Amino acid sequence: MKKINVKILGTGSYVPEKVLTNADLEKMVDTSDQWITERTGIKERRIIDKSQNLSDLAFEASKKAIEKSKISISDIDVIVVATVSGDMPFPATACILQKKLVSNAVAFDISAACSGFMYGLSIAKSFIESGSYKTVLLVGGEVLTRITDWTDRNTCVLFGDGAGAMVLQASETENDVLSVHLGADGTYTNLLNIPAGGTAMQTTHETVDNKLQFIKMSGKEVFKIAVVKMTEATQKALEIAGKKDEDIALYIPHQANLRIIEAVGKRLGVAKEKVYVNVHKYGNMSSATTIIALDEAITSGTVKKGDLVNIMAFGGGLTWGAAVLKI
Ligand code: UT7
Repeated sequence: MKKINVKILGTGSYVPEKVLTNADLEKMVDTSDQWITERTGIKERRIIDKSQNLSDLAFEASKKAIEKSKISISDIDVIVVATVSGDMPFPATACILQKKLVSNAVAFDISAACSGFMYGLSIAKSFIESGSYKTVLLVGGEVLTRITDWTDRNTCVLFGDGAGAMVLQASETENDVLSVHLGADGTYTNLLNIPAGGTAMQTTHETVDNKLQFIKMSGKEVFKIAVVKMTEATQKALEIAGKKDEDIALYIPHQANLRIIEAVGKRLGVAKEKVYVNVHKYGNMSSATTIIALDEAITSGTVKKGDLVNIMAFGGGLTWGAAVLKI
C-alpha cells in the first residue's frame, strides 16, 4: 500500500484586542515591571473580552487557517481542539467550534495542557497516515485569564489568552510533519494543576472561598523540569526526523518564560537568532503558544516555504513534546 503523507495546508492565529501591561498589574498585586521583565521576559499579555469565549478565539484562528489552506469547510473531516480552558467542562469546545464553522466534522478536545498542540499534531498525523481521515483542523487555544487567581502574584503575571490553528491534509507527495515526539510523567501532577472543579474535588462554597478553581503552580520545580524535558524532546524529534541543527531554520519553544527559552537554546547549542521569542507580547498561552508563534513566523516571513522548523512544548501533567515540521 502506498504511504500516505501529511501536508500542512495553512495556519492562522487570533489574539484578543485588550492588552494588559505590567504597569496595569502593578496596580493589582504587589509586583513590578522590573520583576516580571527580569524573571519572565513578559511585558504584556492579551485578555479576552467579556463577550467572547474560547470557541470564539478558536473560530477566528480557524477561519484564517482555512482561508489560507484554500479548502472549504466541508473538506474538514476532524476538528481537534487542544485546551485546558474550554467553554464548558463538557461538551468539547471542538463541538461548539464545529457548530460555529457550520461543519459536520468529527469533533473532540484533548487535554495535555501546554503540550496540547504537540499531542494534537501526533493525533492528526496518525489519523491521516492511517487513512482514517483526510483533512484535520487542529486548534491550540486558551483563555487562561479566566482560570487565573488575580490576587496571586506568583501566577497572575504569567498568563494570556489566544488561539492558533493548522489545517493538515493527506498527500501522496509532500510530507510536512517529519516527526513528533511526546512524553509525560504523572508523578508531577501536583506541581501544576487546578485542584477543584473536577470530580475528585467538586466545586463547593469552600473550594471557591479558597480559590481552588484557579491554576496553582510550583514555578521553580516546573522551571527545572521544563528545561531538561524540552531539550530532550527536541533532540529526540530531530533524531526521528533524521535532521541536524544545520537543517533547522527556526526553533519555536513554548513561550512560558524567556529564561526557560534561553536555557533550552543554550543546552541545545543553537544560535540565539534561531530561537523564536514572542513571550514579551503575549505571556504564556499554554497550548496556543507554539502555533501562534509558528503562524507569526510564517506571516512575518521569518521562515519561508520549504524551511524546517522545530516546535517544542512543556506543561501540566507533566507533559512535553517536540516536532519537526516543513513549512
Ligand atoms: O507553561 C507551563 C509551564 N510553566 C512554566 O514553565 C513556568 C515555570 N516557572 C517559571 O517561569 C518561574 O519559576 C516563575 C516566573 C513562575 C517564578 O520565577 P522564579 O525565579 O522561579 O521566582 P520564585 O518563585 O523563586 O520567587 C522569587 C521571589 C519570591 O520571593 P522570596 O520568597 O524570595 O521573598 C516570590 O515571592 O519572587 C517573589 N515573587 C514576585 N515578586 C514580585 C513571585 N512572584 C512575584 C511577582 N512580583 N509577580
